[in-house]
Amino acid sequence: MKAVYPGSFDPTTYGHMDIIERAAAFTDELIVAVLNNSAKKAMFTIEERLEMIRQLTAHLPNVKAMSFSGLLVNFAEENDARLIIRGLRAVTDFENEFQMALTNRSLNNNIETLFISTSTQYLFLSSSIVKEVATLGGNVDEMVSPIIKEQLLKKIDAVKPNNKF
Ligand code: PNS
Repeated sequence: MKAVYPGSFDPTTYGHMDIIERAAAFTDELIVAVLNNSAKKAMFTIEERLEMIRQLTAHLPNVKAMSFSGLLVNFAEENDARLIIRGLRAVTDFENEFQMALTNRSLNNNIETLFISTSTQYLFLSSSIVKEVATLGGNVDEMVSPIIKEQLLKKIDAVKPNNKF
C-alpha cells in the first residue's frame, strides 16, 4: 500500500523520523509530503526541507519526498495513495488531528487516516520547540539529526542578530 505522511517539516525532527521509519516498514511506498504554504512563515524553504528529508531518508528505498499545495486528499489521490499517516503525541494533538482526519474523510472517503503514536522519548518534541531551543543557543542533539542541526545553526547565524522565527 502507498501512503502519504504530510506535514510542514520545518525542520524534520527525530519525532518525524520515528514515524517515517515505522510507516516505511509496513507500506510499499511512503511519500513524505511537505506542505507548500506561503502564508505560513517558515525557517527553511521548501527545497531546503525536501533536500534534508532526502538526506535523512537515503537509507529507506521506499520513501520519497515531495511538496504539495492545495488539499492533501487531492495530492494523495493524484499519487494513488489511499492512506494518510499522522503521528500523535499527547492528547493535546488529538482534537486537531481528529478534526483534520474527519475533514479529509468528508472530502474524500476513499482515503483513510492512520495515526501512529509517537515513541515516548519524543512526546515533547516539535519543530517549533527545536527552532526555539536552537535559536536560544540550546543543545538540540537529542531532537534532530546532525544534518538538521548543521542547517539550523547556519540559518541562525545568517539571520543574527534579528534571529526570530
Ligand atoms: O506538520 P503540520 O504543520 O501539523 O501539518 C499540517 C498539514 C500539512 C498536514 C495540514 O495543514 C494539511 O494537510 N494541509 C493541507 C490543506 C488541507 O488539505 N486542508 C484540509 C484538511 S484540514
